Amino acid sequence: MKNDRLLRALRREPVDCTPVWLMRQAGRYLPEYRATRARAGSFLAMAKTPELACEVTLQPLARFPLDAAILFSDILTIPDAMGLGLYFVDGEGPKFERTVRTAADVDRLSVPDMETSLRYVMDAVRLIRRELDGSVPLIGFSGSPWTLACYMVEGGGSDNFARIKALALNDPATLHRLLAVNTDAVVAYLSAQRAAGAQVLQVFDTWGGVLSPAMYREFSLPYLVRIARELERGDGVARTPLILFGKGNAPYLDALAASGCEGLGVDWTVSLEDAALRTQGRVALQGNLDPATLYASPAAISEQVRLVLDSYQAGNGGSREGHVFNLGHGLSPDMSPGHVAALVDAVHIHSAR
Ligand code: CP3
Repeated sequence: MKNDRLLRALRREPVDCTPVWLMRQAGRYLPEYRATRARAGSFLAMAKTPELACEVTLQPLARFPLDAAILFSDILTIPDAMGLGLYFVDGEGPKFERTVRTAADVDRLSVPDMETSLRYVMDAVRLIRRELDGSVPLIGFSGSPWTLACYMVEGGGSDNFARIKALALNDPATLHRLLAVNTDAVVAYLSAQRAAGAQVLQVFDTWGGVLSPAMYREFSLPYLVRIARELERGDGVARTPLILFGKGNAPYLDALAASGCEGLGVDWTVSLEDAALRTQGRVALQGNLDPATLYASPAAISEQVRLVLDSYQAGNGGSREGHVFNLGHGLSPDMSPGHVAALVDAVHIHSAR
């Protein structure tokens, strides 16, 4: 591997500077992404065609000196492969033709076969690895059992999570069965991505933070812990690191750090100093610049990057090791590629050892 900063940082080993990658680094803020998407006809056609998924995965790396590639795909490939019928309505986000709301709906679900219904994802991973040719590591990913369940029960995005929260309270056993099959699917999906060539794995628990503490500890946390425990990922330097990212996971960092994962991704509502003090070197930390910082000037971005780097160092006993720089959530379509370039450069410059 020509650039193994990310893998080293996830093992909390010394690096020449802090590695950086960005959630949604391949996306609509890049004109070349919009061009490929127009050629493909739709987001889903692009994600389901390995050559196009590979092309857009590599686009941000051609522009910026990023320290990792992330597979271009979506978390909703799993429920789609379970037969729910994923589609996108422009401006409204993801939707499902069929929802999961009753015990009978859950009975119909099973773990999809990874080399048939999700073959296109594994083919994309294999192709991207070949094209990267060892330049930077490739990150594979999945949604968390809870976050996938949110889309499956609601039938799409939601403002208030009314249906899934009502299900949690009215019929918790049915929701637990849904979360259990999702967990089995996530473990199989991440294992298959690893076998296909993914070198780091990240679970996105985007909606864990909408739960009360009692509900988070019942419906999200135990399934994240199961993934960290059950996912076979090798030993020592050959171990494939697992990062658990969660929006709003700050109250649970102690429990998450004890799960057995290698890295924790946090949003910008917690300081990395606090996060590092609470996790005490048990895991690497990833994050956590507020994505809205990218709307400010390059000089302001550079200053905010320095504050995030220094905050981590202050909580980590004066050392910068064990930090992966990222945003606290994804890039948005109206962000400027020039400002993203300023961010990436600032990380490498300010963190040079
Ligand atoms: O980070 C990367 O560059 C990798 C690609 C990636 C996408 N989706 C591409 C995508 C990843 C890691 C995801 C994960 C994902 N998808 C999550 C979890 C991460 C997060 O943001 O918290 C969620 C909740 C989804 C579900 C989903 N898919 C949403 C809410 C949307 C946006 C809909 C919209 O119109 O804004 C998608 C579509 C999607 N996935 C896009 C991209 C680049 C935009 C599609 C387009 O080109 O129109």
